Amino acid sequence: MSSKALVIGASSGIAQRLICRLSGDPRIERIYAVSRSPAEVGLPARVNWLTCDYSEADIAETVALLNDEPGEFSRVFICNGMLHEGDRVRPEKRLEEIDLSSIEAVFRANTFTPLLWLKHLVGFLRGEQVCTLTLFSARVGSISDNKLGGWYSYRASKAALNMLVQTASVEYARRAKNVQLVAFHPGTTDTALSRPFQGNVPEGKLFSADFVAERLLSIVENMTPVGHALYLDWQGREIPW
Ligand SMILES: NC(=O)c1ccc[n+]([C@@H]2O[C@H](COP(=O)([O-])OP(=O)(O)OC[C@H]3O[C@@H](n4cnc5c(N)ncnc54)[C@H](OP(=O)(O)O)[C@@H]3O)[C@@H](O)[C@H]2O)c1
Repeated sequence: MSSKALVIGASSGIAQRLICRLSGDPRIERIYAVSRSPAEVGLPARVNWLTCDYSEADIAETVALLNDEPGEFSRVFICNGMLHEGDRVRPEKRLEEIDLSSIEAVFRANTFTPLLWLKHLVGFLRGEQVCTLTLFSARVGSISDNKLGGWYSYRASKAALNMLVQTASVEYARRAKNVQLVAFHPGTTDTALSRPFQGNVPEGKLFSADFVAERLLSIVENMTPVGHALYLDWQGREIPW
């Protein structure tokens, strides 16, 4: 059965490779890419680029626009995430570095924006076809795995995202039974997000965005809904919440 894919946060390094790989999959008839940024030139064929400022009104308008298109979605990826931004947002090493406006910016990108999409997609994704809805989390969002400390806002925003994904999965299991929610940890991936922190990554542990995109697409390939969210790494292994 042919279907469509939706990639939100489409300017992300990993999202770009997902879009490229999806556009080479003949079973995916159309890919919709959503970003704050305008489309780059040379988009792969079958990709529709939509801009969205992630205000709730604009998210609702984007979903309404997608609703007018025929066919169902089988793959949705919410890639948004922020670890640093200029001089304004930096991962904190110690409590003295906590700054409320930075935490708010990180939570907006990592937690509130994905939550608004979860809200507006629940009715829209309900259908006959199995649909995987993957939200990019991070292993550092695991409360039980936190041995190192630091990165207060990033960790907490991803932990909060995990809770929201698990909570929404209870409602999705009732209202959109065809949808499987996945909180995904890509591993340390060579993108703008990790670039300032790649110095300490052990040899062989810094992945290319294309490798991660391939891993994720194969993990969600034959998934069927299990009634609760999954928290998975790039190997498809479960991470303790
Ligand atoms: N790279 C890694 O090592 C790594 C490790 C663990 C988890 N992750 C997670 O994987 C996901 C993708 O990361 P990436 O490495 O591909 O990052 P990236 O290239 O830096 O992309 C950043 C993404 O975040 C969105 N974004 C940035 N600022 C935002 C804001 N203020 N409000 C809403 N959205 C905003 C961008 O959306 P637009 O397209 O709208 O600009 C884009 O999708 C993120 O959720 C990240 O936390 C990455």
